[in-house]
Amino acid sequence: MRAVIAVLPGDGVGAEVTTEAVRVLEAIAAAYGHEFEFREALIGGAAIDAGADPLPEATLELCRQSDAVLLGAVGGPKWSDPEADVRPEQGLLAMRKELGLFANLRPVVPHPELCTASPIKAELLRNVDIIVVRELTGGIYFGDKTQTNTTASDLCSYTTDEIERVVRVACRLAQKRRGRLTSVDKANVLATGRLWRITVDRVVREEFPDLSLEHLLVDAAAMHLLSRPADFDVIVTENMFGDILTDEASMLAGSMGLLPSASLGADGPGVYEPIHGSAPDIAGKGIANPYAAILSTAMLLRHSLNLNDEAVAVETAVAEAIDTGARTPDLCADSASAMSTRDVGTAVVSRIEHTRHALRA
Ligand code: IPM
Ligand code: MN
Repeated sequence: MRAVIAVLPGDGVGAEVTTEAVRVLEAIAAAYGHEFEFREALIGGAAIDAGADPLPEATLELCRQSDAVLLGAVGGPKWSDPEADVRPEQGLLAMRKELGLFANLRPVVPHPELCTASPIKAELLRNVDIIVVRELTGGIYFGDKTQTNTTASDLCSYTTDEIERVVRVACRLAQKRRGRLTSVDKANVLATGRLWRITVDRVVREEFPDLSLEHLLVDAAAMHLLSRPADFDVIVTENMFGDILTDEASMLAGSMGLLPSASLGADGPGVYEPIHGSAPDIAGKGIANPYAAILSTAMLLRHSLNLNDEAVAVETAVAEAIDTGARTPDLCADSASAMSTRDVGTAVVSRIEHTRHALRA
């Protein structure tokens, strides 16, 4: 197949990890006979520095004309002055909103060989296979904001339509998995939390009666994620809770550098990005973990291009590369055995090239 993929490296380690992700997609194209055209554009701090908006019109237009978008990360100390009125993160949020990407899928599947990289006991990590569905275009991220020298406010609001559509995405995923849905809210304190809970109950009762549904308050969910992670199947939650819980959940896998994500709307291109940030402390050193970006390409192949075999090929190549010790410093107990971003990318690419030879044989 032919596909146009917009590549937005962004800031910090974004460029390093997306470079490896693109190499992996090129290897997939060669192995399976596809033609992927990559078109690069600016977002975040890089776009601000180029004299534009954090989401330039040309970037948005490119995304709209593409089949999928691969994104690195945005932000960094250079642009994080709280007095500044334009910030890199605004570019990412505007893109999510403009492209209507209301459902953010964040799978958490610890690799058995990396249990030692997680601070959680290995016995608790056995059989952990979670997918968090984070609402991405509503809630406190997008509500009206006010700020003076002495007072500030952020409005959190949700409509039933916004809740229903993301809950349906989560329910359909749960149907194809183990049939368990956990909805996370703060219904004991927040009005949005009560509307969330009532709406989830109704959607599940009327449209997905076969699912088993559990409600958790977000504070309890944060604890249960660590005390009984293997019990969870699909977790659905609002924007900010999903942001926080997935950083926490990344520690089940062992590193922020391992978790990919897919942001999907009703139609149009999906955006695929690691859940980690721009990691300015290690940017430019060639040691950032590229697995989250590479695994995001598997989600891109699966969800935007409908290429499931190719997605599995990427996931298998990553698992094998990890098995054979292809690890960046964040995954190594002793830094002497650590590999660079590029070498880890090469480990994945060479496994995919093996598949190519096997396919041709
Ligand atoms: C994420 C990030 C973003 C978010 C930031 C960079 C705005 O933390 O994708 O999880 O808060 O959504
Ligand atoms: Mn986050």
